[in-house]
Amino acid sequence: MRLKLLFIFQLFLFAGFMTSQLSCQQSISPQQIQKPQNMAFKLPDLPYAYNALEPHIDAMTMEIHYSRHHAAYTNNLNAAIAGTNLEGKTIEELMQVAGSNTAVRNNGGGFWNHNFFWSVMSPTGGGEPAGALGAAITARFGSFDEFKKQFSQAAVSRFGSGWAWLGVKADGSLMICSTPNQDNPLMDIAPDKCTPILGLDVWEHAYYLKYQNKRPDYISAFFNVINWQQVSEYYAAVGGK
Ligand SMILES: [Fe+2]
Repeated sequence: MRLKLLFIFQLFLFAGFMTSQLSCQQSISPQQIQKPQNMAFKLPDLPYAYNALEPHIDAMTMEIHYSRHHAAYTNNLNAAIAGTNLEGKTIEELMQVAGSNTAVRNNGGGFWNHNFFWSVMSPTGGGEPAGALGAAITARFGSFDEFKKQFSQAAVSRFGSGWAWLGVKADGSLMICSTPNQDNPLMDIAPDKCTPILGLDVWEHAYYLKYQNKRPDYISAFFNVINWQQVSEYYAAVGGK
């Protein structure tokens, strides 16, 4: 009887072990990512498939970047503002308190920056901007190639983790700048204030799986997926000139 009970107990242990192993092996589809329904900010849908930007940005990097990093910033931002007087504010309004609230600065910045980053890339991107933005880039930097050189330099020279930006200043002119960590040019603490119309994530999590330490190669590849139509719409919306 005692042996029989021991055998049944071992069976239960084995069944529990197998169940936990199976659940660990399940991969996460976009539909399964945790998206709290009653929180202030929601992880937006990725506007294309994880593999849509290949070969320039690989599918695994996109999946981890979106479903883990961006989702974490979103959840942590919601946790940081829950029950405080910051609840109900827009993400743009929250950028104005970044200097006095580290959790909002890091996670609110991460939330806004990645929302924006996905939008300025496209499987049909690349090339050069036309129209008013193309003319403004030529007028400001001399040529598209010179713009590309200066933007790439801002991205390469950002020490550690951060972002490179093309933005529109208050006077309507274009500027290139970079920010550390998850800061952006909209924040109250930003030394170079502008409204971003293009942004590039140069955190290692954005490129290391495919490019390892070769950040310049990742930056060069980014130019093959820039959604210039969307960037032009941002430029027009800001009233760039
Ligand atoms: Fe990122």
